[in-house]
Amino acid sequence: MGYVENTQSKTEVLAKETLISPGFYTTNIRKLSSTDTSSFQGDFSTAIANLKNDYTKDKYIRDQRFDQSWDHIQGEARELIIKLLEMYSAAEYSGFILYKELSYKLKETNSVLSSGFSLMSRDEARHASFLNKALLDFHIKPRLDFLKKEHRKYIFLPFSWFIYSTYLSERISSCYYITIFEHLESHPEYSIYPLFSFYKSWSEDENRHGDFFGVIIKSQLQLSSGLKARLVCKFFLVLIFSMTYFKHKSNENLLALLGLDAREYYVSTITKVNNSIRKDLPIVLDVEKSQFFEELDICLLHISENEKINVSNQNTLLKLIRKIPHYSSILLVILRLFIRNETV
Ligand SMILES: [Fe+2]
Ligand SMILES: [Fe+2]
Repeated sequence: MGYVENTQSKTEVLAKETLISPGFYTTNIRKLSSTDTSSFQGDFSTAIANLKNDYTKDKYIRDQRFDQSWDHIQGEARELIIKLLEMYSAAEYSGFILYKELSYKLKETNSVLSSGFSLMSRDEARHASFLNKALLDFHIKPRLDFLKKEHRKYIFLPFSWFIYSTYLSERISSCYYITIFEHLESHPEYSIYPLFSFYKSWSEDENRHGDFFGVIIKSQLQLSSGLKARLVCKFFLVLIFSMTYFKHKSNENLLALLGLDAREYYVSTITKVNNSIRKDLPIVLDVEKSQFFEELDICLLHISENEKINVSNQNTLLKLIRKIPHYSSILLVILRLFIRNETV
Protein backbone atom coordinates (compact mmCIF):
# COMPACT_ATOMS: atom_id res chain seq x y z
CA MET A 1 0.00 0.00 0.00
CA GLY A 2 1.16 3.56 -0.67
CA TYR A 3 -0.05 6.89 -1.84
CA VAL A 4 0.38 8.28 -5.34
CA GLU A 5 -1.19 11.10 -7.19
CA ASN A 6 -4.21 10.06 -9.20
CA THR A 7 -3.49 11.57 -12.60
CA GLN A 8 -7.00 10.73 -13.86
CA SER A 9 -8.70 12.92 -11.32
CA LYS A 10 -9.33 16.55 -12.14
CA THR A 11 -9.37 17.35 -8.45
CA GLU A 12 -6.23 17.08 -6.35
CA VAL A 13 -7.47 13.98 -4.56
CA LEU A 14 -4.80 11.44 -3.66
CA ALA A 15 -5.39 7.90 -4.83
CA LYS A 16 -4.52 5.02 -2.55
CA GLU A 17 -2.71 2.17 -4.25
CA THR A 18 -4.01 -1.32 -3.87
CA LEU A 19 -2.30 -4.49 -4.98
CA ILE A 20 -4.50 -6.68 -7.18
CA SER A 21 -3.59 -10.33 -6.57
CA PRO A 22 -5.21 -12.74 -9.00
CA GLY A 23 -4.80 -16.53 -8.72
CA PHE A 24 -2.77 -18.20 -11.49
CA TYR A 25 -3.69 -21.64 -12.68
CA THR A 26 -2.47 -24.16 -15.16
CA THR A 27 -3.40 -27.72 -16.09
CA ASN A 28 -2.42 -30.68 -18.24
CA ILE A 29 -1.98 -28.97 -21.62
CA ARG A 30 -1.41 -32.27 -23.43
CA LYS A 31 -4.86 -33.52 -22.36
CA LEU A 32 -6.45 -30.21 -23.24
CA SER A 33 -4.87 -30.14 -26.68
CA SER A 34 -6.13 -33.71 -27.31
CA THR A 35 -9.72 -32.36 -27.30
CA ASP A 36 -11.39 -33.82 -30.39
CA THR A 37 -12.78 -30.70 -32.02
CA SER A 38 -13.61 -32.43 -35.33
CA SER A 39 -16.29 -34.78 -33.89
CA PHE A 40 -17.98 -31.77 -32.27
CA GLN A 41 -17.17 -29.32 -35.04
CA GLY A 42 -20.70 -27.88 -35.19
CA ASP A 43 -20.83 -27.19 -31.44
CA PHE A 44 -17.36 -25.63 -31.41
CA SER A 45 -18.15 -23.49 -34.49
CA THR A 46 -21.31 -22.16 -32.83
CA ALA A 47 -19.55 -21.39 -29.53
CA ILE A 48 -16.64 -19.67 -31.29
CA ALA A 49 -18.91 -17.77 -33.71
CA ASN A 50 -20.82 -16.43 -30.69
CA LEU A 51 -17.57 -15.29 -29.10
CA LYS A 52 -16.36 -13.76 -32.37
CA ASN A 53 -19.59 -11.81 -32.81
CA ASP A 54 -18.57 -9.86 -29.73
CA TYR A 55 -22.16 -8.85 -28.98
CA THR A 56 -21.18 -6.74 -25.99
CA LYS A 57 -18.31 -4.89 -27.70
CA ASP A 58 -20.00 -1.49 -27.48
CA LYS A 59 -21.69 -2.06 -24.15
CA TYR A 60 -18.86 -1.22 -21.74
CA ILE A 61 -18.89 2.52 -22.23
CA ARG A 62 -18.64 4.78 -19.22
CA ASP A 63 -21.49 7.13 -20.00
CA GLN A 64 -22.43 10.44 -18.38
CA ARG A 65 -23.67 8.66 -15.25
CA PHE A 66 -20.02 8.23 -14.24
CA ASP A 67 -19.25 11.95 -14.66
CA GLN A 68 -19.58 12.79 -11.01
CA SER A 69 -17.85 12.38 -7.69
CA TRP A 70 -18.64 9.27 -5.64
CA ASP A 71 -17.35 10.81 -2.43
CA HIS A 72 -20.87 10.95 -1.04
CA ILE A 73 -20.65 7.16 -0.61
CA GLN A 74 -18.81 6.87 2.68
CA GLY A 75 -18.29 4.52 5.61
CA GLU A 76 -19.18 0.86 5.35
CA ALA A 77 -20.93 1.26 1.97
CA ARG A 78 -17.75 2.65 0.42
CA GLU A 79 -15.60 -0.09 1.95
CA LEU A 80 -17.98 -2.77 0.65
CA ILE A 81 -18.02 -1.40 -2.90
CA ILE A 82 -14.22 -1.16 -2.95
CA LYS A 83 -13.99 -4.74 -1.61
CA LEU A 84 -16.30 -5.92 -4.39
CA LEU A 85 -14.32 -4.08 -7.08
CA GLU A 86 -10.98 -5.42 -5.84
CA MET A 87 -12.29 -8.97 -5.52
CA TYR A 88 -13.78 -9.04 -9.02
CA SER A 89 -10.85 -7.22 -10.59
CA ALA A 90 -8.58 -10.01 -9.27
CA ALA A 91 -10.96 -12.69 -10.59
CA GLU A 92 -11.22 -11.09 -14.04
CA TYR A 93 -7.44 -10.71 -14.33
CA SER A 94 -7.05 -14.30 -13.26
CA GLY A 95 -9.33 -15.36 -16.14
CA PHE A 96 -7.59 -13.02 -18.58
CA ILE A 97 -4.09 -14.40 -17.85
CA LEU A 98 -5.32 -18.01 -17.79
CA TYR A 99 -7.12 -17.83 -21.15
CA LYS A 100 -4.35 -15.78 -22.76
CA GLU A 101 -1.75 -18.35 -21.74
CA LEU A 102 -3.89 -21.31 -22.80
CA SER A 103 -4.48 -19.69 -26.17
CA TYR A 104 -0.73 -19.28 -26.62
CA LYS A 105 0.15 -22.82 -25.46
CA LEU A 106 -2.45 -24.43 -27.75
CA LYS A 107 -1.62 -22.36 -30.81
CA GLU A 108 0.37 -25.09 -32.56
CA THR A 109 -1.54 -28.15 -31.35
CA ASN A 110 -5.23 -27.17 -31.25
CA SER A 111 -6.11 -24.04 -33.20
CA VAL A 112 -9.85 -24.28 -32.41
CA LEU A 113 -9.35 -24.22 -28.64
CA SER A 114 -6.61 -21.63 -29.02
CA SER A 115 -8.92 -19.26 -30.84
CA GLY A 116 -11.75 -19.77 -28.27
CA PHE A 117 -9.42 -19.01 -25.35
CA SER A 118 -8.04 -15.96 -27.12
CA LEU A 119 -11.56 -14.53 -27.58
CA MET A 120 -12.44 -15.23 -23.96
CA SER A 121 -9.28 -13.50 -22.75
CA ARG A 122 -10.40 -10.42 -24.73
CA ASP A 123 -13.67 -10.37 -22.71
CA GLU A 124 -11.95 -10.88 -19.35
CA ALA A 125 -9.47 -8.07 -20.12
CA ARG A 126 -12.38 -5.79 -20.92
CA HIS A 127 -14.14 -6.69 -17.66
CA ALA A 128 -10.96 -6.16 -15.63
CA SER A 129 -10.28 -2.80 -17.24
CA PHE A 130 -13.85 -1.64 -16.52
CA LEU A 131 -13.39 -2.55 -12.84
CA ASN A 132 -10.05 -0.72 -12.72
CA LYS A 133 -11.72 2.46 -13.91
CA ALA A 134 -14.42 1.95 -11.29
CA LEU A 135 -11.73 1.66 -8.60
CA LEU A 136 -10.33 5.03 -9.72
CA ASP A 137 -13.79 6.52 -9.13
CA PHE A 138 -13.19 5.64 -5.47
CA HIS A 139 -9.62 7.02 -5.55
CA ILE A 140 -8.09 3.54 -5.53
CA LYS A 141 -5.27 2.95 -8.00
CA PRO A 142 -4.84 -0.75 -8.81
CA ARG A 143 -1.25 -2.00 -8.79
CA LEU A 144 -0.79 -4.71 -11.40
CA ASP A 145 2.57 -6.21 -10.39
CA PHE A 146 1.38 -9.63 -11.60
CA LEU A 147 1.65 -8.48 -15.22
CA LYS A 148 5.35 -9.28 -14.86
CA LYS A 149 5.57 -13.05 -15.14
CA GLU A 150 8.22 -13.42 -12.44
CA HIS A 151 5.67 -12.19 -9.87
CA ARG A 152 3.27 -15.09 -10.54
CA LYS A 153 2.98 -18.31 -8.58
CA TYR A 154 1.02 -20.93 -10.51
CA ILE A 155 -1.24 -23.62 -9.09
CA PHE A 156 -1.47 -26.80 -11.14
CA LEU A 157 -4.98 -28.26 -11.28
CA PRO A 158 -5.55 -31.81 -12.54
CA PHE A 159 -7.43 -31.79 -15.84
CA SER A 160 -10.94 -32.77 -14.67
CA TRP A 161 -10.71 -30.44 -11.64
CA PHE A 162 -9.60 -27.60 -13.90
CA ILE A 163 -12.34 -28.06 -16.51
CA TYR A 164 -15.26 -28.63 -14.10
CA SER A 165 -14.25 -25.83 -11.75
CA THR A 166 -13.58 -23.27 -14.50
CA TYR A 167 -16.82 -24.24 -16.26
CA LEU A 168 -18.78 -23.85 -13.00
CA SER A 169 -17.14 -20.56 -12.10
CA GLU A 170 -18.23 -19.13 -15.49
CA ARG A 171 -21.80 -20.37 -14.98
CA ILE A 172 -21.96 -19.19 -11.36
CA SER A 173 -20.63 -15.73 -12.17
CA SER A 174 -23.03 -15.40 -15.10
CA CYS A 175 -25.94 -16.19 -12.79
CA TYR A 176 -24.55 -13.90 -10.10
CA TYR A 177 -24.47 -10.92 -12.50
CA ILE A 178 -27.91 -11.42 -14.02
CA THR A 179 -29.58 -11.98 -10.65
CA ILE A 180 -28.19 -8.69 -9.31
CA PHE A 181 -29.05 -6.89 -12.56
CA GLU A 182 -32.67 -8.08 -12.50
CA HIS A 183 -33.03 -7.34 -8.80
CA LEU A 184 -31.78 -3.76 -9.25
CA GLU A 185 -34.00 -3.26 -12.29
CA SER A 186 -37.00 -3.86 -10.08
CA HIS A 187 -35.48 -2.09 -7.02
CA PRO A 188 -33.61 0.91 -8.49
CA GLU A 189 -33.45 2.55 -5.05
CA TYR A 190 -30.55 0.16 -4.22
CA SER A 191 -28.61 1.01 -7.37
CA ILE A 192 -26.02 3.21 -5.71
CA TYR A 193 -23.36 3.02 -8.43
CA PRO A 194 -23.85 2.53 -12.23
CA LEU A 195 -21.54 -0.52 -12.48
CA PHE A 196 -24.44 -2.85 -11.78
CA SER A 197 -26.36 -1.73 -14.87
CA PHE A 198 -23.60 -3.36 -16.96
CA TYR A 199 -24.19 -6.72 -15.32
CA LYS A 200 -26.54 -7.94 -18.06
CA SER A 201 -23.82 -7.74 -20.72
CA TRP A 202 -21.34 -9.12 -18.22
CA SER A 203 -23.59 -12.10 -17.52
CA GLU A 204 -24.00 -12.78 -21.26
CA ASP A 205 -20.21 -12.77 -21.75
CA GLU A 206 -19.64 -15.21 -18.89
CA ASN A 207 -22.43 -17.41 -20.18
CA ARG A 208 -20.75 -17.65 -23.59
CA HIS A 209 -17.54 -18.68 -21.81
CA GLY A 210 -19.54 -21.37 -20.01
CA ASP A 211 -20.93 -22.54 -23.37
CA PHE A 212 -17.41 -22.91 -24.75
CA PHE A 213 -16.34 -25.00 -21.75
CA GLY A 214 -19.59 -26.97 -22.10
CA VAL A 215 -18.50 -28.08 -25.58
CA ILE A 216 -15.04 -29.06 -24.26
CA ILE A 217 -16.76 -31.22 -21.61
CA LYS A 218 -19.01 -32.86 -24.22
CA SER A 219 -16.07 -33.64 -26.45
CA GLN A 220 -13.97 -35.19 -23.67
CA LEU A 221 -15.59 -38.59 -22.99
CA GLN A 222 -13.71 -38.95 -19.69
CA LEU A 223 -15.66 -35.87 -18.48
CA SER A 224 -19.02 -36.41 -20.13
CA SER A 225 -19.99 -40.08 -19.91
CA GLY A 226 -19.55 -43.25 -17.89
CA LEU A 227 -19.70 -44.04 -14.19
CA LYS A 228 -16.30 -42.51 -13.40
CA ALA A 229 -17.26 -39.21 -15.07
CA ARG A 230 -20.54 -39.09 -13.11
CA LEU A 231 -18.80 -39.77 -9.79
CA VAL A 232 -16.06 -37.21 -10.38
CA CYS A 233 -18.54 -34.62 -11.62
CA LYS A 234 -20.82 -35.18 -8.62
CA PHE A 235 -17.85 -34.76 -6.29
CA PHE A 236 -16.96 -31.39 -7.84
CA LEU A 237 -20.55 -30.21 -7.84
CA VAL A 238 -20.91 -30.96 -4.11
CA LEU A 239 -17.55 -29.36 -3.36
CA ILE A 240 -17.84 -26.23 -5.51
CA PHE A 241 -21.47 -25.52 -4.63
CA SER A 242 -20.65 -25.99 -0.92
CA MET A 243 -17.70 -23.61 -1.11
CA THR A 244 -19.82 -21.10 -3.01
CA TYR A 245 -22.63 -21.34 -0.45
CA PHE A 246 -20.23 -20.82 2.48
CA LYS A 247 -19.28 -17.44 0.98
CA HIS A 248 -22.72 -16.03 1.73
CA LYS A 249 -21.70 -15.36 5.33
CA SER A 250 -18.80 -13.10 4.33
CA ASN A 251 -20.89 -11.30 1.69
CA GLU A 252 -23.93 -10.62 3.89
CA ASN A 253 -23.29 -6.88 4.31
CA LEU A 254 -22.43 -6.32 0.67
CA LEU A 255 -25.61 -8.00 -0.54
CA ALA A 256 -27.68 -6.21 2.12
CA LEU A 257 -26.34 -2.94 0.67
CA LEU A 258 -27.94 -3.96 -2.64
CA GLY A 259 -31.15 -4.97 -0.86
CA LEU A 260 -30.56 -8.72 -1.09
CA ASP A 261 -30.69 -11.40 1.58
CA ALA A 262 -27.37 -13.28 1.28
CA ARG A 263 -28.66 -16.77 2.08
CA GLU A 264 -31.68 -16.45 -0.21
CA TYR A 265 -29.46 -15.06 -2.97
CA TYR A 266 -26.93 -17.89 -2.77
CA VAL A 267 -29.61 -20.60 -2.53
CA SER A 268 -31.35 -19.19 -5.58
CA THR A 269 -28.09 -18.72 -7.56
CA ILE A 270 -26.83 -22.26 -6.89
CA THR A 271 -30.25 -23.80 -7.60
CA LYS A 272 -30.56 -21.90 -10.89
CA VAL A 273 -27.04 -22.86 -11.95
CA ASN A 274 -27.64 -26.50 -11.02
CA ASN A 275 -30.75 -26.55 -13.22
CA SER A 276 -29.07 -24.83 -16.14
CA ILE A 277 -26.04 -27.12 -16.43
CA ARG A 278 -27.93 -30.34 -17.20
CA LYS A 279 -27.21 -29.82 -20.89
CA ASP A 280 -23.43 -29.90 -20.39
CA LEU A 281 -22.68 -32.26 -17.50
CA PRO A 282 -23.15 -36.02 -17.05
CA ILE A 283 -24.97 -35.42 -13.74
CA VAL A 284 -26.50 -32.64 -11.62
CA LEU A 285 -27.48 -32.56 -7.94
CA ASP A 286 -30.94 -32.93 -6.45
CA VAL A 287 -30.63 -30.01 -4.04
CA GLU A 288 -34.13 -30.48 -2.60
CA LYS A 289 -34.08 -34.19 -2.01
CA SER A 290 -30.60 -34.12 -0.51
CA GLN A 291 -31.56 -31.12 1.69
CA PHE A 292 -28.40 -29.55 0.33
CA PHE A 293 -28.59 -26.12 1.94
CA GLU A 294 -29.96 -27.32 5.28
CA GLU A 295 -27.03 -29.73 5.54
CA LEU A 296 -24.57 -26.96 4.65
CA ASP A 297 -26.06 -24.81 7.40
CA ILE A 298 -24.93 -27.52 9.84
CA CYS A 299 -21.40 -27.16 8.40
CA LEU A 300 -21.56 -23.40 8.96
CA LEU A 301 -22.25 -23.97 12.66
CA HIS A 302 -19.13 -26.13 12.91
CA ILE A 303 -17.09 -23.59 10.93
CA SER A 304 -18.18 -20.86 13.33
CA GLU A 305 -17.25 -23.07 16.35
CA ASN A 306 -13.79 -23.53 14.85
CA GLU A 307 -13.45 -19.78 14.35
CA LYS A 308 -14.24 -19.27 18.05
CA ILE A 309 -11.53 -21.80 18.94
CA ASN A 310 -9.08 -19.99 16.64
CA VAL A 311 -9.43 -16.72 18.53
CA SER A 312 -9.18 -18.35 21.97
CA ASN A 313 -5.99 -18.07 24.03
CA GLN A 314 -5.21 -21.79 24.03
CA ASN A 315 -2.03 -23.24 22.55
CA THR A 316 -1.97 -24.45 18.94
CA LEU A 317 -2.06 -28.17 19.75
CA LEU A 318 -5.02 -27.87 22.08
CA LYS A 319 -6.85 -25.74 19.51
CA LEU A 320 -6.27 -28.40 16.86
CA ILE A 321 -7.55 -31.19 19.14
CA ARG A 322 -10.71 -29.18 19.88
CA LYS A 323 -11.26 -28.50 16.19
CA ILE A 324 -11.00 -32.14 15.05
CA PRO A 325 -14.62 -33.12 15.97
CA HIS A 326 -15.90 -30.11 14.00
CA TYR A 327 -13.80 -30.96 10.95
CA SER A 328 -15.07 -34.56 11.17
CA SER A 329 -18.69 -33.38 11.30
CA ILE A 330 -18.15 -31.15 8.22
CA LEU A 331 -16.59 -34.06 6.37
CA LEU A 332 -19.52 -36.31 7.32
CA VAL A 333 -22.01 -33.77 5.96
CA ILE A 334 -20.14 -33.54 2.65
CA LEU A 335 -20.03 -37.34 2.46
CA ARG A 336 -23.76 -37.53 3.23
CA LEU A 337 -24.49 -35.04 0.44
CA PHE A 338 -22.38 -37.06 -1.96
CA ILE A 339 -24.24 -40.29 -1.09
CA ARG A 340 -27.74 -38.73 -1.01
CA ASN A 341 -27.35 -37.41 -4.54
CA GLU A 342 -27.84 -40.33 -6.90
CA THR A 343 -25.11 -41.14 -9.39
CA VAL A 344 -27.31 -42.32 -12.27
FE1 LIG B 1 -15.28 -11.95 -16.84
FE1 LIG C 1 -15.48 -15.56 -18.01
